Amino acid sequence: MKNKIINFLDLGNQPLANSYIKNKNINKKERKYRLIICFNKRNKLVSIKNTFSSKDMFDDQYPYRSSTSKTMSFHLKKLARDIKKLRPEKILEIGSNDGCFIKNFDKKKTIGVEPCSNVERITNKKGYNTYSEYWSPKLAKKILKKHKKVNLIFSSNTISHIENLDEVFKAINIILDEKGIFIIEDPSLLECLKKNTYDQFYNEHIYVFSYLSLNKALKKHNLEIFKIEELKIHGGSNRYFIKKIKNNIKLHKSIKFHKNKEEKYGLKNLKTYVDFAKRVKNSKKKLLSIFRNCKKNNKKIVGYGATAKSVTVLNYCNINNSMIDYFIDTTLDKQNKYTPGTKIPIKGYSDLINDKVDYVFLGAWNFKKEIFNKEKKYLKNGGKFIVHTPYPKIISK
Ligand code: TMP
Repeated sequence: MKNKIINFLDLGNQPLANSYIKNKNINKKERKYRLIICFNKRNKLVSIKNTFSSKDMFDDQYPYRSSTSKTMSFHLKKLARDIKKLRPEKILEIGSNDGCFIKNFDKKKTIGVEPCSNVERITNKKGYNTYSEYWSPKLAKKILKKHKKVNLIFSSNTISHIENLDEVFKAINIILDEKGIFIIEDPSLLECLKKNTYDQFYNEHIYVFSYLSLNKALKKHNLEIFKIEELKIHGGSNRYFIKKIKNNIKLHKSIKFHKNKEEKYGLKNLKTYVDFAKRVKNSKKKLLSIFRNCKKNNKKIVGYGATAKSVTVLNYCNINNSMIDYFIDTTLDKQNKYTPGTKIPIKGYSDLINDKVDYVFLGAWNFKKEIFNKEKKYLKNGGKFIVHTPYPKIISK
C-alpha cells in the first residue's frame, strides 16, 4: 500500500506538555516539536508523527499524580473492588504512578512498574514492591526471576504513551500467565473525534487507540481483546480486557457492539480524520473569538487545571498570559511554575469568588463534573466557565 501513513492534522509548534517552567528558566529557550497527527491506513493506528524517547518524557521530575483527582481515585478503587472478586494471586501494574490503584490491594499481591522515580518513590517508601524502570521484555524477565507469572496486568493511560507496541506486548507475553488477563484503559479515539478533544494529542500521547487498531496490534502477538467497557473517565476512555488467543474465554457481546460502532463512525476511513481536522480548525477560531470578546470587555480570565492536554490547546490557539492571568492547580509540582510554551503562571488552589474572576477556562475539562461540584458557589454567583469541548462555548449556571 503506497503512502500508508497520512498526516491529517497539524497542531503547530508545541513544547513538551509536562515541562512546566521554573521561574529561573523563564527566559530559557524551550524544546519544541511539530505536533502532527497521522493515520495509518494499513493498521488503522492514529498517532503523533514526531516522537520523543521515553527517557526525555518520563524522568525523575515528572509532575503528574493520579491521586490528585477524587474522580480518578474513586474510579480505580471501584475497579480494584471488581478485580478482587477474580481472586488474582499477583497483580502487576504498568505505570503505577503514585500508587493510586495498587494501594487498594495487599502489598504482597502487587508489583508496580513506574519509570518516573520521583513518583515511584511515593509507593516504594510505603512498602510496595515497585520497579523504577521502563516496561520492556528485559524488565519482564527480571521480574520473573523473583516472582511467578502474574494472573492480572493492569495499565491505565500508559500503553498509549509507549511508541514500540511490539516490545510492550512481547513483555506481556513473557510474564502473563496462560489464563491471565491484561486490562488496558486509554482514551477512546471514537470519543475524541466525537467531542473534538484534539488535546488528547500531545508528546506523551503517542497513540489514541480504537478497538480496531489496538486489536490488530495485539493479534501480532497472539493476544486479543475479549471484552470492552466504555468509561466516562478522561472525557471518554475504553477499558479493554485482553487474553492470550490460546485461552478459550468466549468473546463478550461488547466486542461486536463496539466494533460496529467504530466502523459505522468511519474509523477505517481517511475522510473521517480529514473532517475532524476541519472541525478542529473551526474550534480554534471560535475559542479565540470568545477570548478576544472577553478581553475587549476587560474581563478577568483564569485557567482551572494546568493539564498536559491544555498545553496543546493553548499553544495551538496562541492563548497566552495576555488572555489568561494565571492557572490554578492542585498539583504541588506544577505550582509556582509556568505553563509550557505560553508561560502563564500557575498558582495553588484559590477561591474563585474572592479573586473576583469573571471567566474560568476549564483546562481540566475531563474533571468537569468534580470541578463544577466544587465550584457551586462561584457558578451560583454568576461565575462562568469557558470550555472548548465538544465545541467552544461559555457555560454559566
Ligand atoms: P489530567 O487531565 O492530566 O489528569 O490533569 C488534571 C490536572 O488538573 C491535575 O494537575 C490536577 C488538576 N486539578 C485541579 O487543579 N483541581 C481539580 O479539582 C481537579 C479534579 C484537577
